[in-house]
Amino acid sequence: MSDFRLTRTLPADATDAALRADVSEGLTRYPKSLPPKWFYDARGSELFEEITRLEEYYPTRAEREILLAHAGDVAAASGARTLVELGSGSSEKTRHLLDALPGLHTYVPVDVSESALRGAAGTVLAGRPGLSVHALVADFTRPLDLPDSPGPRLVAFLGGTLGNLLPKERAGFLRSVRERLAPGDGLLLGTDLVKDEETLVSAYDDAAGVTAAFNKNVLSVVNGELGADFPLDAFDHVARWDAEHEWIEMRLRARRALNVKIRELDLVVAFERGEELRTEVSAKFRREGVREELAAAGLRLDQWWTDAAGRFALSLSTAR
Ligand code: AVJ
Repeated sequence: MSDFRLTRTLPADATDAALRADVSEGLTRYPKSLPPKWFYDARGSELFEEITRLEEYYPTRAEREILLAHAGDVAAASGARTLVELGSGSSEKTRHLLDALPGLHTYVPVDVSESALRGAAGTVLAGRPGLSVHALVADFTRPLDLPDSPGPRLVAFLGGTLGNLLPKERAGFLRSVRERLAPGDGLLLGTDLVKDEETLVSAYDDAAGVTAAFNKNVLSVVNGELGADFPLDAFDHVARWDAEHEWIEMRLRARRALNVKIRELDLVVAFERGEELRTEVSAKFRREGVREELAAAGLRLDQWWTDAAGRFALSLSTAR
């Protein structure tokens, strides 16, 4: 017996409307920028999976190491009966948590990709028949209605994706997560940590060029979805450490002056030679900063675990 439900909280054309708005705003202002969520079409998701297997890209392995070591502690501390996972993707890392939570009643994976949700739900249910899986097709950066399910709830936001949000967006996001929790419910948060520049830059500029291809994929997405004519070979991949903000920035730098037509927006965008388009911010954290950001949102940091090399942290906080 299996209990699977899927709720779409995004209207069918929401993605298209949001992409149009982001592209027309981001490419008509200076400096130009695009939000990182548009990397992840089917090809971009594949490239990201490939990134997670690169020698240089340590966050995925480091977070898995922590989850394997501490899933039991998370389960004991949270006593969760409902697990909500934001940006669940393939739910690959979730397995460790699910295995540690035998008393779990409902799993709520939340992702913008319906195909990823259906695939992940199938795998999870195969290993845990009897579990209720209520998948939500939703953009987790928007306010989100959680299904009615037994508490305590544990919200998991893994991978370090919090770092893709700018500080103000992070504050709003953490507050909206807190609003969805009852006092005593938990947040399990993965955050990549500040470390030496060389390690950070190579994680975002690997020797095999997979991250460069991932970065340029956002141009393919705009070409395909909005009829644009970005020539991918006219851009160079740039990964830079911003020591003041303590974040990595990925950019695409125009190798020459060029005009890009975006047919569906009736827009022509001019790039100067050497002009950079920012495609991602990936913030790196320190324990004290995470504690403060959580506290500002009404969450108390209770546990902080890192991998043996101290590269990545998983924290468990409780709604006050
Ligand atoms: C999926 C957002 C955690 O910021 O490290 C990987 C995305 N970008 N390589 C990150 C990413 C370039 C990744 N997150």
